[in-house]
Amino acid sequence: MVSNLEWKRWGAADPLWAVAAWAGKQRNGPEPWNETDFYALGYSDWLDFRRRWERYGVDRTSCAEIGCGAGRITAQLVQYFGTVHGLDVSEGMLDFARCRIADARFYLTDGMRIPLDDVSITAVFSSHVLQHLDSPEDSIPMFAEIYRVLVPNCTMMIHLPIYNWPSGRGLFERLFVARQWLARQKARVDRARGRPMMRGTFYEAGWLAEILKKRGFVNVEFLSFPVSSNGGLHSFVLARKPAGDGSQA
Ligand SMILES: C[S@@+](CC[C@H](N)C(=O)[O-])C[C@H]1O[C@@H](n2cnc3c(N)ncnc32)[C@H](O)[C@@H]1O
Repeated sequence: MVSNLEWKRWGAADPLWAVAAWAGKQRNGPEPWNETDFYALGYSDWLDFRRRWERYGVDRTSCAEIGCGAGRITAQLVQYFGTVHGLDVSEGMLDFARCRIADARFYLTDGMRIPLDDVSITAVFSSHVLQHLDSPEDSIPMFAEIYRVLVPNCTMMIHLPIYNWPSGRGLFERLFVARQWLARQKARVDRARGRPMMRGTFYEAGWLAEILKKRGFVNVEFLSFPVSSNGGLHSFVLARKPAGDGSQA
């Protein structure tokens, strides 16, 4: 995936700030993240996420976390699930997490495939990852992989920025398309110059629901809520692999 390269760079340069890009918390900033505060943030966010996932339905046998980063949430998942698999495209991020979280298994991936067996995992989680893909279409193979590894009747909870067109969408849509085009051009220039960057990708709710239903997911739900840590609004999609689907994909 084209966005993998910048994450490899972030993993080497500043893994904590690249995960939680709060003002002044850069490695060389006035108040850099320390590990205690970084993992406490993960604990607080996970409590917010977990409450919603439990309401929807989650099987605690095993979990794959896509884009585990420095293990901010992984450190919480290992307290909750029987087995945890952390996946990431950045060696630097994985090295950081591996040294601090003994109870998870970590894997370097290409950003599209999940290196786990078909029908082998009871829960899939991801936060602050799909927002950085190069385009919404890049998520399609990832959702196919999630479906493949999930055990029937099990669920995923995936954080991503979701929007809905208001009625009379014409002007909004044109402005949004123009903004996306500008962002793509900026990314092209930043990549060509090797500048540190993060992509910001948004998902239209109707489009995403269709993609997931086509893949076979059922009970697709969108959730949006402020986290306790800083009040930031977080949106998620939750979906279930149907109970009757014992096939691989
Ligand atoms: C902003 S960090 C979030 C880390 C973690 N999920 C959290 O909330 O603390 C994004 C992480 O996703 C990883 N990543 C980006 N694209 C990915 C992909 N396609 N597959 C797996 N990991 C990816 C990055 O390397 C980075 O570690």
